[in-house]
Amino acid sequence: MWFSLLPDPDVADQGQVLVVVTASVGGFSLLVILTLFLLITGRCQGYIKARMKSEEKRRARFHSGHVPFSGIKTYVDPDTYEDPTQAVEEFAKEIDPSYICIERVIGAGEFGEVCCGRLRVPGRMDIAVAIKTLKGGYAEQQRRDFLREASIMGQFNNPNIIRLEGVVTKSRPVMIVVEYMENGSLDSFLRTRDGQFTVLQLVGMLRGIAVGMTYLSDMGYVHRDLAARNILVDESLVCKVSDFGMSRILEDDTEAAYTASGGKIPIRWTAPEAIAYGKFSSASDVWSYGIVMWEVMSYGERPYWEMSNQDVILSIEEGYRLPAPMGCPVTLHQLMLHCWQKESSQRPRFHDVLSFLDKLIINPSSLLTLVNDVQR
Ligand code: ADE
Repeated sequence: MWFSLLPDPDVADQGQVLVVVTASVGGFSLLVILTLFLLITGRCQGYIKARMKSEEKRRARFHSGHVPFSGIKTYVDPDTYEDPTQAVEEFAKEIDPSYICIERVIGAGEFGEVCCGRLRVPGRMDIAVAIKTLKGGYAEQQRRDFLREASIMGQFNNPNIIRLEGVVTKSRPVMIVVEYMENGSLDSFLRTRDGQFTVLQLVGMLRGIAVGMTYLSDMGYVHRDLAARNILVDESLVCKVSDFGMSRILEDDTEAAYTASGGKIPIRWTAPEAIAYGKFSSASDVWSYGIVMWEVMSYGERPYWEMSNQDVILSIEEGYRLPAPMGCPVTLHQLMLHCWQKESSQRPRFHDVLSFLDKLIINPSSLLTLVNDVQR
């Protein structure tokens, strides 16, 4: 016997309708969800982009002339905060004063004593620190100026920039705690060790300073007081850039002299356009770097010796430049002269200085020809 197993044409039709309806509803829902998703993410991206744009604009306003690279952290001037205390809170860690053990006084700053000691944070290794204190009886403005350095330093993180450990602001005395540098400032360190280093060791120190300055210029920070006295040296001869509060005040620097416009400027270290019309930039820091090179290669000699500030300004204007220190490789003096180009745009950038020094270090025979040999 044969039975027909073909489906009931009515039932088959209903099934097909069900499939079509389900597919249509599903497809439509998917389309709605997709549209909603695109709308939301698009709006989010627009919002994020707008936020990023306004942030970039805000930062660009803060460092006029500097166009920040996207993705690279840029420096925020604490003076742009309505309340500078907020900048300190944002960029510096508060340290419990019971963790600080002061050992001895190592110097005197504009605001108070500088001591060395140890920072003993529970659960962390002890470290040697330098402690800057704010002497009692200060005015609110002095407290702000003192802590300004901490809110600048706290933004940096580089092996050739002095590291801020933190601040004490909630109890007295107010303190700034930084890493301790065993060999103190570079100018006095070199003066007490005249002729004791190889040219390669001196170039190594200069390289460290160039690394620190490259970092600062990338961050959009202009130092304005780059000099060997503001470089600190650790036990392994690593040089680190310090003294950041000075970029605005310069009160503490005994080398800074008043200009006709009333500004206080360390004339011998400063580029002519910065002296003449206050045009400080990374290019004027490069000029100062050339002077630091000269200080290092001459073991802490005073730039332009006993010439008066006025004579220095006039001589530079007439085209005079410092001669090579004794025993200085020709290549290094050429780099100094390059840093001292009258036209700031003709000077190398810190990136160029750094790669030039790296090439000299990789090929030390380039350091063998000394200026004295050429002159002879
Ligand atoms: N003098 C000023 N700051 C110092 C530091 N961090 N280390 C050593 N001596 C200093």
